[in-house]
Amino acid sequence: MTGGGTPITRESAEQMLRANDRGGYTVPNANVYPFQWNWDSAFVALGFRTFDEARAWTELETLFSGQWDDGMVPHIIFHRPADGYYPGPDAWGTNHTPLTSGISQPPVAASTALKLFREARDGQLARRRAQKLLPKLIAWHRWWHETRDPDRSGLVTCVHPWESGRDNLPDWDAPLAAVTPVIDVSALRKDLTHVNAAERPTNDFYNRVMTLVEQARALGWDGARIARDLDFRVCDLGIQCILLRADRDLHVLASALGDDRAATEVGHWIARSDAALARLRAPDGSFRSLDLRTRKLSPAVTSATFLPLYARAIDNEAASALANLFDRWMARVRFAVPSTDPDFVSFDPQRYWRGPAWLVMNFMIADGFAAYGFAEIASRIRADSAELVRTSGLREYFDPRSGVGLGGRDFSWSAAIVLCWDLTA
Ligand code: DGY
Repeated sequence: MTGGGTPITRESAEQMLRANDRGGYTVPNANVYPFQWNWDSAFVALGFRTFDEARAWTELETLFSGQWDDGMVPHIIFHRPADGYYPGPDAWGTNHTPLTSGISQPPVAASTALKLFREARDGQLARRRAQKLLPKLIAWHRWWHETRDPDRSGLVTCVHPWESGRDNLPDWDAPLAAVTPVIDVSALRKDLTHVNAAERPTNDFYNRVMTLVEQARALGWDGARIARDLDFRVCDLGIQCILLRADRDLHVLASALGDDRAATEVGHWIARSDAALARLRAPDGSFRSLDLRTRKLSPAVTSATFLPLYARAIDNEAASALANLFDRWMARVRFAVPSTDPDFVSFDPQRYWRGPAWLVMNFMIADGFAAYGFAEIASRIRADSAELVRTSGLREYFDPRSGVGLGGRDFSWSAAIVLCWDLTA
């Protein structure tokens, strides 16, 4: 096990990915998350790319083996049974083959595919694998832009906190308060046997999010009805920006592979999302999630506020406002980037997405700042990330004040970011 004090080398990070490899897919962590997770795999593939390109493509292909007929790519694929996780396939009750959950996750995969293709050492292999994946990527993005945007507003709907991948953000407090819990699942939780309760979501959160799963089951997992009828419907700033960036990358990929029809379709999605982003900007210049049921912007600002940079979706003036905001945050914590505004009333530096820093967010945020010419901020985020893993190991997330490692250990996406961002250098 790699922990605080043990230097992380490229070899140890590679070894960790290999150890979490279950044959074609990689578990985020052997105890807490013993199946394949959607956006984890997209980052994990970036790590594999650095030493095994074929295996990187396989990670994405295995993820898409769980794709539903309507194009949705689930957030968990239960390829084979494993103990230690709740909610498993029975709780989801989707009856899909292979067994899957019924919601999706931030669509990072197209951006990974473009990187694998564009920076391939074996160009022929990359072209072959990309050609096969392209229609599946297009189908998934179409699902977001059609099933999850029934009015073609340019803002896609997220129907579950787990779908955002940033489960217990303060953004979801108000929308979740409107969900009346009909079950108590506290005794079924298994995460607390692996991780300190103060670092995980609360029982109340679990009761509400499992109530949403019950609602979706009652709708027969019908995508169109879920998008219109579930009690939780938000536009998650994270999904919105990650999708927009992934659409841009998909457009480049489709064009490079000569699929003009697909490129044209993706071009329409990009135009619509670009136009819609202004609706997520608050008067103070920050970007926020939107509750689609109440039409209210979230009172909280989270680290996703920096993702419009990653999406290449704003002008230089808006980018400068985000650079100022970043400086304000960094005057309050030692390590970039806290997941929630450190000045926000419910900022909690140890509890999952309510404060801790996460390497995958750091990677995307630094990419965005670098693209807009804020090289110093980008280097600061990378240097902080390197120090976090140097002092605390390949943990799931980190306290942004002390740098203490939190959540699961031996975490695949942290190893992947170390490899693809070369944090051992
Ligand atoms: C969990 O179980 O904590 C996951 O984040 C759900 O995807």
